[in-house]
Amino acid sequence: MNRREILKGSTALAAAAAAGIRPASAQAPIVIKFSHVVATDAPKGKACEKFKELAEKYTGGKVKVEVYANSSLYKDKEELEALQLGAVQLLAPSTAKFGPLGFTEFEALDLPFIFHDEANFKKFSSSDLAKRMFAKLETKSVKGLAYWDNGFHVMGCNRQIRNVKDFQGLKLRIQGSKVLDATTRAWGAIPQVMAFSEVYHALQTGVVDGLENVPSNFWTQKFFEVIKYIAVSYHGHLSYAVVANKKFWEDLPADVRPNLEKAMTESTDYFNSIAKKENDEALEDIKKTGKTQVYFLTPEERKSWVQAVLPVHKEMEKRVGKETIDALYKVVDFKPDA
Ligand code: LMR
Repeated sequence: MNRREILKGSTALAAAAAAGIRPASAQAPIVIKFSHVVATDAPKGKACEKFKELAEKYTGGKVKVEVYANSSLYKDKEELEALQLGAVQLLAPSTAKFGPLGFTEFEALDLPFIFHDEANFKKFSSSDLAKRMFAKLETKSVKGLAYWDNGFHVMGCNRQIRNVKDFQGLKLRIQGSKVLDATTRAWGAIPQVMAFSEVYHALQTGVVDGLENVPSNFWTQKFFEVIKYIAVSYHGHLSYAVVANKKFWEDLPADVRPNLEKAMTESTDYFNSIAKKENDEALEDIKKTGKTQVYFLTPEERKSWVQAVLPVHKEMEKRVGKETIDALYKVVDFKPDA
């Protein structure tokens, strides 16, 4: 390109700018890759699609969101590393996956029996503690945008677990959190850290005997095909943190970011409005298949689970931080015998 052409081009650009027309290169949409590990029809899958719809609408096409479901882009551990490197822009991992990256305070959310119900989790997600935890992420290129409440864990297995003694020797898949590791051991089972995408096959081939998860994941991943029993224990909570690559998010143009924030707020409300309902429906649907027996623990049985794992709260103070655990107790008004 000679000087004349350059000048001609720049004159054209200047004229376009004056007319408020963005040059072709600036008109190319900003692409957001939004990766997750669950099925498209799980609550998280649906909320990611909702974000795509709203983000594209509110930005008038300036943003294009590509949603990658079912670990099609990255598996559990890789997801967060890819986000830190900027290879993917948005994720909604469970908070149990933050500990292995050094954000061990997030493992407080895995403490057994820490939350009682949705209102209780909301107290946490709207607390200063939740904000402080997000602020910590920023030291490692991660920007926290929202907490999503995916409900309570049940225990699925190829053997029936009612009383805590039934756990003895079972191999149970867990996420990477050390609190989940300690909890599983306290029950007498053997924890095995494994990516979510590998669980179905591991159950089918007997590599593990079972796992904890929420009913909507048992349903949409078809885990009910490869286990025989579900104990409805609601012993743990599945919290998600929607996170962005910090630099990407902060560098978004001023006419784009507020619209994405609006889309995120609405997608969060949407997620939180469907998750519990979908968990309840999933349990009913699983029962109807006749493939898996769904058993609700009696209060005495549940108590035996509680008593076996309460010492984990104290045991984990060193890893998670006593201040974080104390602050969480306060926020959710935790009572050990509740
Ligand atoms: C798991 O890995 O067990 C789940 O947290 C997957 C998910 O994101 O729901």
